[in-house]
Amino acid sequence: MLELSELNSTFRFLPPMDFDGCTPWLTLMGFWNTEEVRHAEGVARWSVKIATELGWSALQCEELRQAALLHDIGKMALPQSIVFKPGQLTTEETRMLQQHTLFGMQVLGCVQNPVFAMAAQVAMTHHERFDGAGYPLGVSGKNIPLAGRIVAVADVFDALTRTRVYKEAWSAKDAIEFIQKESGKQFDPEVVQAFLKATVSEYPLA
Ligand SMILES: [Fe+2]
Ligand SMILES: [Fe+2]
Repeated sequence: MLELSELNSTFRFLPPMDFDGCTPWLTLMGFWNTEEVRHAEGVARWSVKIATELGWSALQCEELRQAALLHDIGKMALPQSIVFKPGQLTTEETRMLQQHTLFGMQVLGCVQNPVFAMAAQVAMTHHERFDGAGYPLGVSGKNIPLAGRIVAVADVFDALTRTRVYKEAWSAKDAIEFIQKESGKQFDPEVVQAFLKATVSEYPLA
């Protein structure tokens, strides 16, 4: 039996922040749907590339990586028959699906540390649009937190270039063109510029 004093001395050497706090959540998501975890990993990878182009520090990029991994965690509160419906969603189903932003914010907001504070913010804002026509709040421009504006671009790029039950995968070239076309409408132009710089190394001919 461990004495309380021994426990205290053990925990004294633990790091002050749990940098891998997202892992159990993502593992659970993997049991729910493995393809969603691959999407989360793709979004995290592109979010970090964009943030790096924008001059974020290594610590900020690590927080964003974990936040981006959890951006769609709120989908797990919805029936899979809606989230992975192959056909067109009804108006009511669309309304329900949009709630994943709020569910994500609610659940991630329960954890009090910088990574989860950013994760809650990203879950809440990654479907907002720069022109204010997004959801759930319809906020616009720089009123959307920068982390949300970055993940918005990474999310769409990964989703377009991935095969889903309801669509074929787009080519990287077509997806990049789409994001360029939506600069100033769906996406923050500064974030789009950073994204375009980040794509050069990976898709030099796109
Ligand atoms: Fe989402
Ligand atoms: Fe997503």
